[in-house]
Amino acid sequence: MTVIPATDSATHAAIEIPGLGKITVPIGLFINNEWVLPTKGQTFTVVDPSTALPIVDVAHAMAEDVDRAVHAARAAFETTWGNNVSGAHRGNLLNKLADLMDRDVATIAALESLDAGKGISVATSGDVPESANCLRYYAGMADKVHGQTIDQFGGKKLAYTLNQPIGVCGQIIPWNYPLMMWAWKVAPALAAGCTVVMKPSELTPLSALYMCDLIKEAGFPAGVVNTVPGLGSTAGEAISRHLDIDKVAFTGSVATGRRISVAAAESNLKKVTLELGGKSPALVFPSADLDQAANWLGLGIFYNSGQDCCASSRVYVHDSVYDKFVSLLKLKAETCKVGLPSDENTSFGPLISAGQRDKVLSYIDSAREEGATITAGGKRWAQAEGFFVEPTVLTDVNQNMKVVREEIFGPVVAVGKFSTEEEGVHLANDTPYGLAGAVFSSDASQVTRVAAKINAGTIWINNYCALSNGVPFGGFKQSGIGRELGTAGIEAYTQIKGVHHNLTEVMSWPF
Ligand SMILES: *[C@@H]1O[C@H](CO)[C@@H](O)[C@H](O)[C@H]1NC(C)=O
Ligand SMILES: *[C@@H]1O[C@H](CO)[C@@H](O)[C@H](O)[C@H]1NC(C)=O
Ligand SMILES: *[C@@H]1O[C@H](CO)[C@@H](O)[C@H](O)[C@H]1NC(C)=O
Repeated sequence: MTVIPATDSATHAAIEIPGLGKITVPIGLFINNEWVLPTKGQTFTVVDPSTALPIVDVAHAMAEDVDRAVHAARAAFETTWGNNVSGAHRGNLLNKLADLMDRDVATIAALESLDAGKGISVATSGDVPESANCLRYYAGMADKVHGQTIDQFGGKKLAYTLNQPIGVCGQIIPWNYPLMMWAWKVAPALAAGCTVVMKPSELTPLSALYMCDLIKEAGFPAGVVNTVPGLGSTAGEAISRHLDIDKVAFTGSVATGRRISVAAAESNLKKVTLELGGKSPALVFPSADLDQAANWLGLGIFYNSGQDCCASSRVYVHDSVYDKFVSLLKLKAETCKVGLPSDENTSFGPLISAGQRDKVLSYIDSAREEGATITAGGKRWAQAEGFFVEPTVLTDVNQNMKVVREEIFGPVVAVGKFSTEEEGVHLANDTPYGLAGAVFSSDASQVTRVAAKINAGTIWINNYCALSNGVPFGGFKQSGIGRELGTAGIEAYTQIKGVHHNLTEVMSWPF
């Protein structure tokens, strides 16, 4: 294995951040607590989605680099981490890391805003503190991973379980919430005692790379977290097929999730958890507080410019309140705070890339061709060069339209009608996805009944969008395998060992 020693100039670069001026950020590979260069010296370019201009070139990890990272992660797992350190120790380090995030909130938020196009206030008050809180949530759980004791045969034998860390975990995260998805993956893995080979999205690697310096500063042993930026077809494929990675955790599209499952199965049957797409339905009943419902569902589809796997992209409204609700939602779309990410008042920024913008616009075209009405938005936002699309509301839709069947991953909501509860539930469940759903009604027995009937991993009743570290999140149907957050989130990084201990049993022979 050749490890090319890195110089600062090759693994770090000065970039200009609106509001902060010039800062130096890491752009190399982070392996064994050191910044190194990729073996083949390749890079890829990271683009500012609000201007379409390049920000910086970042190291591109190939299979041999992933191999180096796995080697470091394995060595750490066997010696300085894993079963050889206490949960309390792991929790302390995670808490230290969260404190360093608080200290550096302005820098991390500015990087996240620049790289992912989020409004700076949203990144400062949402993404960064929420991510730090996720680390704290799992820090507190690191010393509370208990097994069971199972008395057997009246004291002949004592059985107990050990919940042990799975081992070296490959983690492949998306570009829509780069830092938060980092925290959701890294925090439970480290709390459980696993070590990590992290691949941030090639569109948004900057916050994950910044976190590596904080990992080292917090005092994590070398090799516990390694970071290998790259494409899905290079670094992602190498992780999914690696013979010495014990688990791969992925958040992203159904198509990629399927490829990762196949690669995991064909290599070493590594464990797989997947958090995939959605086409999440909301049912609005006549007794609902309609203005509040429109606020929550506006948040649900326009937050993060609709680039959200649990976006409320299908709304079904009871026909008696349909027109009223549509006029409210139209008003919400027209009063979204669209703007440049660096503007403190922006809550709705650009989409991540030209490709994503064009995909969203082509879905809007297909809706027009299939006979839907564009009630709000429907075009590029003309006031900036970046990848903006206006908040868009589509009405007069039916279940056969592409915009109702497929995940758009943009600020486009399709609003349909229903007349009975049964019909509403049927429409809600008429999808291969099952990530989330919602019900708006002031009838307590109705919301309870409908919440139980919608086939999805998360249900919001009279609210939407907000997740909590303590509440498990994940998909029914093709929206995924496994859960993140909550106690389920750390269980996904442990494996159960059953131990049978002979107390009084004597084995006779022949049996
Ligand atoms: C486990 O940790 C202890 C204490 O830090 C260390 O002395 C020992 O070498 C470690 N075990 C292995 C196998 O590395
Ligand atoms: C943000 O909004 C506030 C209140 O409306 C206003 O006073 C301020 O000038 C705005 N800031 C920018 C940068 O536009
Ligand atoms: C199991 O426990 C019984 C009772 O203590 C003992 O006689 C027997 O030798 C044990 N078996 C083994 C393999 O140690």
